[in-house]
Amino acid sequence: MAWRSAGFNVDRMRLSARRTLPRAVFDFADGGAEDEVTLRANETAFDDLRLWPRPLDGAAERDLSVELFGQRLSLPVVIGPTGLAGLFWPDGERCSARAAAAAGTAYCLSHGSVCTLEELAATGVAPRWMQVFVYKDRGFTEELTRRAQAAGYAALVLTIDNQLLGKRERDTVNGFQIPPRLGPLQLAAMATRLGWLWRMKGSLRGLTFGNYVRPGQPSDIATLAGKMGSILDPGMSWRDVEWLRGLWQGPLLLKGVLHTEEARRALAAGVDGLIVSNHGGRQLDGAVASLNALPHVAAAVEGRIPVLLDGGIRRGGDVLKALALGATCCLIGRPQLWGLAVAGEAGVAHVLELLRGELDRAMGLCGIERIEAIGPQLLEPGRFGSLPIAA
Ligand SMILES: Cc1cc2nc3c(=O)[nH]c(=O)nc-3n(C[C@H](O)[C@H](O)[C@H](O)COP(=O)(O)O)c2cc1C
Repeated sequence: MAWRSAGFNVDRMRLSARRTLPRAVFDFADGGAEDEVTLRANETAFDDLRLWPRPLDGAAERDLSVELFGQRLSLPVVIGPTGLAGLFWPDGERCSARAAAAAGTAYCLSHGSVCTLEELAATGVAPRWMQVFVYKDRGFTEELTRRAQAAGYAALVLTIDNQLLGKRERDTVNGFQIPPRLGPLQLAAMATRLGWLWRMKGSLRGLTFGNYVRPGQPSDIATLAGKMGSILDPGMSWRDVEWLRGLWQGPLLLKGVLHTEEARRALAAGVDGLIVSNHGGRQLDGAVASLNALPHVAAAVEGRIPVLLDGGIRRGGDVLKALALGATCCLIGRPQLWGLAVAGEAGVAHVLELLRGELDRAMGLCGIERIEAIGPQLLEPGRFGSLPIAA
C-alpha cells in the first residue's frame, strides 16, 4: 500500500498525518505548550546521546521481549494515553488497542477517550491500563478507579502533570474547538482533507468523553470539554497518591515524574512504577526533557520499581537509548496518533513494527541479544557507568 511505503519511518508517518488531517486537528496533537521548548528538547535529547557499540559481542538473534508487572510484552514499547484518539480515526481508541494487543504489547486508555473504559474492555484486548486524574470531586476519581478495576484493567496510571491545562498556542491560533467547527469557512479550508471528513462524518456528531457521560446530564463534548479545566484539582498531594494506593488493587503508576525527590517519595507511597514524562511538552514549557531526567530518576529508585519513559520516542534507537539510561520500557503518544490518522488500526500496527524493526537492528549493531543486557555500557565509557539498570 502506498501509505506504508511513504511512511517508512515515524517522522514520515507524521508527514502523512499532516497531509490527511485538518490543520487544527493535526496541530492539536503535534503541538506543545507555549514556545514548545520542552517539546523540541524531548526529541533533541535523543540526538545528543550517542551509542558505543561492541559488534563483536555477537547478536545473531535478538529477543526484544520484556517483563513488566508480571506480563511479558513482545517489545519494550507501550501505547500511552492520548485523549480524543477517536478524533483521528473513527473508533480510534479501540483501533489502537487492537493494534497494541496484536503486536504483543499494552495499551493505556486515556481518561478522555471517546469510547468508555467498559467499551474498550468489552473488546477483550489485553493488557489494558487505565489513566486517571485527581478531581476536585475525589468521588469521581474513585468511581473511575473502581470501574477500571471491575472492567479488568491490569494497571492504573495516575497522571500528575496536567492539573492546570498547558497553554497550547497552536490551538489558539487555529481556533481549535472540540468538536471541530465545521462552518462554510472551515469546510472550504478542508477541501484537501476530504478523506478525513468522509471517514469521520458518522463519528463527529457523537464525539464525546465517554467516561464522563452521566445519565440526565449534557453529554455533548463541548460542554464536557468546557468543564475539564475546572474539575481537576491543582491542590492534589501525596495524600491523594496514598489514598489511591489503598483503593486500587494492582500496579499503580505515577505519570509525569521528573524530580528525584518525587521518585523517592513515590517509592515510600507504595507506587509500583514511574513514568518519566513531561506530557510530551504539552504542559510546563521549559520542563526538563524526559530523557535527561531519566537517569536521575532511575538512580533514585535503585531498580526497586520499573521506570518507564515517554516523550520524543521516534526511532527504535531512541528506545535503546532510554533503556540504556535505566528505563524498563517506553511509551509513545503522538506516533500512535499519526499511525491512526493515516490508516487506523493498520497504521498503529505499522508504527509499532517500525519501532520494533529499528530497535532490533540497533540492538544487533550494538552486539546486544536481550533487552536485559541493555545498560550504560552502551553509552559513553565512564560517564554513565554507575547507573543502575532498572528491574
Ligand atoms: C493529543 C494528545 C492527547 C494526550 N492526552 C493525554 C491524556 O489524556 N492523559 C495523559 O496522561 N497524557 C496524555 N497525553 C500525553 C501522552 O500520554 C504522552 O505523555 C506524550 O504524548 C508523550 O510524548 P510523545 O507524543 O512525544 O510520544 C496526550 C498527548 C497528546 C499528543
